[in-house]
Amino acid sequence: MALQGKRVVLVGGTSGIGLATAQAFLDASAQVVIASRSGEKLAEAQRILSGEVTAATLDFRHEEPLAAFFQRVGPFDHLVVTAGDGVMGSISDVPVEQAKAAFDSKFWGQYLTVRAAVPHLRGGSSITLTTGVYGIRPPRGASTLAAINSAVEGLVRGLAVELAPIRVNAVSPGIVDTPIYGGMPAEQREGMFRNLADQLPVGHVATPHEIAQAYVYLAENAFTTGSVVLIDGGAHLV
Ligand SMILES: NC(=O)c1ccc[n+]([C@@H]2O[C@H](COP(=O)([O-])OP(=O)(O)OC[C@H]3O[C@@H](n4cnc5c(N)ncnc54)[C@H](OP(=O)(O)O)[C@@H]3O)[C@@H](O)[C@H]2O)c1
Repeated sequence: MALQGKRVVLVGGTSGIGLATAQAFLDASAQVVIASRSGEKLAEAQRILSGEVTAATLDFRHEEPLAAFFQRVGPFDHLVVTAGDGVMGSISDVPVEQAKAAFDSKFWGQYLTVRAAVPHLRGGSSITLTTGVYGIRPPRGASTLAAINSAVEGLVRGLAVELAPIRVNAVSPGIVDTPIYGGMPAEQREGMFRNLADQLPVGHVATPHEIAQAYVYLAENAFTTGSVVLIDGGAHLV
């Protein structure tokens, strides 16, 4: 019951991995604040989630709204960030502006969120960011994402030293069935998941719930810091 009554802020908690993680913290009797840009997604998440949850609109790419958000939230115990857009395509094909926009979201969004949150974190607190297996095992077309994920992992190691005794870790998922693939036609998406599942030692792509458990573990376990928990179904081995 280490999380009972603890206040958890989850930026990106309205969809996919973040939504499942919000429920996992609620199941551990924590109080959860979810934040993302879309009022619609926030309302739907609040409808789905069961437990003590509040919601706020936030774009984590901008310092001013972040400062105002954490001011409103006040003192809290654990920060989790699952928000972040990436980009796929080769270095010659992806327009530089798109590559920079992905950094602005997944790297700088997490960086700015931590910076704004730190003054409000209580003693015994933790920060858990999100990277991805492409940081260490990029397929073709994932060079920008590989760079972003590696940058986030470097940031985690640096911050674990710099912000101690606040603990700083990351979760690195492999392929997870979430709305991030919602832009693909259903048939193409299912085909992609089947192909990927066939290649994985575990034989299936992850559910968001399978990834969510790692965020709870990292918030609970007082001996973890500077760690990147890779949950990829063995993708880094094949
Ligand atoms: N799914 C995978 O296969 C996979 C694999 C490896 C790594 N990951 C990483 O895991 C993380 C979560 O992915 P997911 O699949 O759960 O994605 P998702 O279902 O698309 O959820 C992303 C969440 O982030 C929020 N968000 C996005 N941009 C934001 C912004 N600028 N400010 C505030 N909130 C923002 C979205 O809500 P709004 O739209 O309302 O802002 C949404 O709640 C990402 O970092 C992704 O790169 C995913």
